[in-house]
Amino acid sequence: MNATIVLLPGDGIGPEVVREARSVLEVVARRFGHRFTFTEHLIGGASIDAHGTALADDALAACRASDAVLLGAVGGPAWSDPNAKVRPEQGLLGLRKALGLWANLRPVRPIPELADCSPLRPERLAGVDLLVVRELTGGLYFGPRVSDVVDGRRRAFDTLEYTEHEIARVVTLAFELARERQGRVTSIDKANVLESSRLWRQIAIEVGQRHPDVALDHQLVDSAAMRLITAPASFDVIVTENMFGDILTDEAAILAGSLGLCPSASLGHGPRGLYEPIHGSAPDIAGKGIANPIGTILSAAMLLRHSLRLEAEARAIEYAVAATIASGARTADIAAPGSKDAVASTAEMGARIRDYLGKVE
Ligand code: NAI
Ligand code: MG
Repeated sequence: MNATIVLLPGDGIGPEVVREARSVLEVVARRFGHRFTFTEHLIGGASIDAHGTALADDALAACRASDAVLLGAVGGPAWSDPNAKVRPEQGLLGLRKALGLWANLRPVRPIPELADCSPLRPERLAGVDLLVVRELTGGLYFGPRVSDVVDGRRRAFDTLEYTEHEIARVVTLAFELARERQGRVTSIDKANVLESSRLWRQIAIEVGQRHPDVALDHQLVDSAAMRLITAPASFDVIVTENMFGDILTDEAAILAGSLGLCPSASLGHGPRGLYEPIHGSAPDIAGKGIANPIGTILSAAMLLRHSLRLEAEARAIEYAVAATIASGARTADIAAPGSKDAVASTAEMGARIRDYLGKVE
């Protein structure tokens, strides 16, 4: 197939990890007979320095015209003044908005050989293979807000607001994804307290009735936070509103062992999506060539799966990553403490993964 992929390396370690992911996609294209056309644009601080804006019009137009976007990370100390008019995050938020991306997908499947990196005991991690689907454009972060002074006292509030339509589309996506997995959805809310959660639960039940082949259960967010630690293997697909998802996805990422391992996808209507590792620009290690590229490489696998519908190719990347880890290759963030094994650089890790990919039948 022919596909156009926009690369937005961004800031800090972004360019280092995106370079490896691009090379992996090039091997996939050769190995499976596809033609991927890459165009590269600035975003975040790099774009502010060059164009005075966190995402220039031509970069956005390229993303709109593409089949998928692969992003590194944005931000860093050079652009961290919270009162600045232009800030790196505006590029990312603007992109999500312009592409209409209302669902954020974060799979968590801990690699058995890296159980030592996780704070959980290996037996708790066994069999964990979950996917969090977080609503991305509604709820508290986008509702009406006020900060003022009433009778001489400061006051502020935010509003957690959802419409039926916003809930139904993201819950429906969760059900469709569950069909291709273990067929179970857990909808997380706070329906004992919040009106918006009562609507959320009601819509989840209605969507569930249209998907009788998928099992649905509901859980309150506080007990779900515990269950993620005590019984993470009991989840398949989790779907939840924006802020609950923000918190639970960070909690779930801990299971994998390192920020550098975790991929994500942001989707809306239609196949085009935005793919990025969950970590930031890691200014403390930027430019040293030691960042772990796996989160970005697995994001490229998600790109193949969700935007291009190339499931076999996505699995080939995931297999190559697992085989590389099993062979003992480790970047510094996942190396055993005190181990004398040679630690792989970003480029060495990428090259090893590409070697395995070349061998996949
Ligand atoms: P961070 O994720 O960049 O780094 C946290 C820690 O994890 C650091 O010690 C870093 O070295 C390490 N780390 C992260 N990714 C790694 C990788 N691939 N390999 C090895 N180690 C890795 O989060 P932090 O420090 O809070 O933020 C740094 C900058 O990144 C800030 O400007 C922040 O705003 C931005 N950021 C951007 C995000 C994005 O573009 N989506 C997400 C999170 C933060
Ligand atoms: Mg977060």
